[in-house]
Amino acid sequence: MVLIKDKEFVPYISASTLKKRIEELGADISKDFSDGPAVLIGVLNGAFMFLSDLTKTIKVPIEVTFIRVASYIGSESSGEIKHLMGLDLDLEGKSVILVEDIIDTGLSMKFLLELIRDKKPKKIAVASLLLKPDALVHDIKVDYLGFEISNRFVVGYGMDYDGLGRNLPALYQLK
Ligand code: IMP
Ligand code: MG
Repeated sequence: MVLIKDKEFVPYISASTLKKRIEELGADISKDFSDGPAVLIGVLNGAFMFLSDLTKTIKVPIEVTFIRVASYIGSESSGEIKHLMGLDLDLEGKSVILVEDIIDTGLSMKFLLELIRDKKPKKIAVASLLLKPDALVHDIKVDYLGFEISNRFVVGYGMDYDGLGRNLPALYQLK
């Protein structure tokens, strides 16, 4: 059990289970993007750990960059995209993989996909460590998905509760 501020979280997905699944995703990406460097765009802040581990399992040349959006305040989705940073790279004609920690309502990913589409890439794929199918309100196709999870708040492995918990090496779920 871990206590973060006022909330208790219990172990959910272990570091070794995450590692094993991420290696499989890396193998799939290596197979699908063997024809030229893809650009991996990590969605800050939550995806930093997933992106870092994922890139190490990819065996073909890639570029790495970051973008930042935020739709969460505390443990509640605010329903709108709050902030945006990054994306100075020219993506025209390139293969892009958007890398997210978790897709919840799908609002952030919908926003990001529209933003990236405007840059005229050759191809856009979505990689997300987690997906909460029961929370999804926007239709998002996830090409590389780690795990489908229940509609309960999680922390760790990059994901936070009110700014804390990102450094936990495994995933924890709200008790
Ligand atoms: P969406 O726009 O509702 O899909 O929310 C996406 C973003 O909210 C994710 O990229 C996370 O950063 C954050 N988020 C959603 N669910 C959780 C959660 O259970 N724990 C921590 N962050 C979350
Ligand atoms: Mg995120």
